[in-house]
Amino acid sequence: MDWGLKNRLARIIKPDTGKTVMLAVDHGYFLGPTSGLEVPGKTIEPLLPYADTLMLTRGVLRSSVNPETPVPIVLRVSGGTSILSELSNESLTVAMEDAIRLNVCGVALQVFVGSPNEKETLINLGKLVDAGQRYGIPVLAVTAVGKDMVRDARYLSLACRICAELGAHIVKTYYCDEFEKVVETCPVPVVIAGGKKLEEKEALKLAHNAISNGAVGVDMGRNIFQSDYPVAMIQAVRAVVHKKASVEEAFNLFNSLKKK
Ligand code: 5RP
Repeated sequence: MDWGLKNRLARIIKPDTGKTVMLAVDHGYFLGPTSGLEVPGKTIEPLLPYADTLMLTRGVLRSSVNPETPVPIVLRVSGGTSILSELSNESLTVAMEDAIRLNVCGVALQVFVGSPNEKETLINLGKLVDAGQRYGIPVLAVTAVGKDMVRDARYLSLACRICAELGAHIVKTYYCDEFEKVVETCPVPVVIAGGKKLEEKEALKLAHNAISNGAVGVDMGRNIFQSDYPVAMIQAVRAVVHKKASVEEAFNLFNSLKKK
């Protein structure tokens, strides 16, 4: 692995703890003005001091994030579908040259294993890894779950392992029962998505379970920005991820921070 690629990876996964809190705010690429992200800049700005990485699209990056921000960017570079269409029908939406112009630390692409467009999304991943290798940009592969797919360890291990085999540097997936099997059989670091908004304590438990079972972090969106207290919530998630806080400790932190 070359120096640039290693350096960018070290900006995503923090070397002091070996963990990362990625803030995912890319939902608008297929959902439009997602609840909590109607005005992305307003949502993102107060959370930035607590995010190790910001995951978003180039449109929101250019329009809504101050270029002076020190937070490393992981740019979503797949899309082309909406909630009204077949979601798996994604293509690459950003040229690697533009990602480099935007000074990103990584690029993210979604794959849909088991979906009608499985092959195309996996080939897209291979092409993106080729381009990333050319310029030293790590690739985060996002394993989406198709409508009829069960989110279990068997399916998620299959999807994560395929992404790693095709050269992804980090894989994003969902937490599930027997999650340790997903991590054990994936030779690259795994982060989890938060999924639909849960009660804060439940979301902290999800993050805690994932970290305890081998995830290197979270790439979490709705469970942070849809909280009534997003700044308190991201700090509580950080405590779980970076400080090994228990669910109880993190929830107490959330409750004390939300009063401020
Ligand atoms: C969609 C994504 C989102 O970034 C991902 O789902 C993370 O967000 P959340 O924690 O809200 O699930 O990659 O495919």
